[in-house]
Amino acid sequence: MNYENIRLETRGPVALITLNRPKAFNALSNDLMDELTHALDAVETDVAIRAIVLTGGEKVFAAGADIKGMKDYSYMDAYQGNFITRNWERASRCRKPIVAAVAGYALGGGCELAMMCDFILAADTAKFGQPEIKLGILPGAGGTQRLTRLIGKSKAMELCLTGRMMDVQEAERAGLVSRIVPVAELIEEAVKVAETIASYSMPAVMMTKECINRSYETTLAEGLLFERRTFHAVFATADQKEGMDAFSSKRPADFKHR
Ligand code: CAA
Repeated sequence: MNYENIRLETRGPVALITLNRPKAFNALSNDLMDELTHALDAVETDVAIRAIVLTGGEKVFAAGADIKGMKDYSYMDAYQGNFITRNWERASRCRKPIVAAVAGYALGGGCELAMMCDFILAADTAKFGQPEIKLGILPGAGGTQRLTRLIGKSKAMELCLTGRMMDVQEAERAGLVSRIVPVAELIEEAVKVAETIASYSMPAVMMTKECINRSYETTLAEGLLFERRTFHAVFATADQKEGMDAFSSKRPADFKHR
């Protein structure tokens, strides 16, 4: 597929996906989401790729769903076309780790897309918000749910009901972003973080991600049981033997991702 709205590059074991509709502030059109889905399908099946960075431009990660594209939708267009559900959640279903590298605006669907990733590394210019209320609508790609789980009811409610944007310091204090880096270093740092993850045992990375995500879906007792069973299973991997043998022999581990 020839991409027109995104760019896909590889840096060793890291896939770097860049949202690339700068004239429309990376508004997430259906075409863009189709391309993103295609790219995620491709990197997910590529065994050489072990981590993904999703980013936008320096001024804008993404300013939300494409308002011009959806403004004339009828209820049936949205319902029968399975709007959002059709493919927006692809990032959250990816089994490989995805780091969102956010600079500038991450608004509406842009904030929601960033939250579908595993964690958000933010530039000092990043701004987050759910301004849908100003359009006479509400967040439709998880904003009312993921934002609330990440930053708590009070702040999520205020942001969604007023449309106010958070600057990056507030977003970090609230727990939405893992770390703030200078904008000029964002991509380099995100790729470095992704390379670190990719250097570890792939099954261990995937199991860790699966366990943390499970904590959002279940009770503590069930989550702990899921973690414990997964932890038991990791002893079946060759990488567990290698990692522990390397530690005992005081040498670097050579993981085979098996
Ligand atoms: N959809 C379509 N086009 C958009 C867009 C969007 N979400 N956001 C920005 N653009 C376009 C603008 O129309 C403009 O295009 P033209 O030059 O052709 O007019 C261009 O990008 C630049 O935008 P501005 O001129 O508005 O730039 P600015 O610097 O003055 O403001 C901004 C930047 C604050 C991000 C402002 O563009 C804005 O508020 N955008 C809309 C944000 C928004 O409401 N997002 C939620 C969308 S709904 C949604 O996402 C639903 C969901 O949950 C899935």
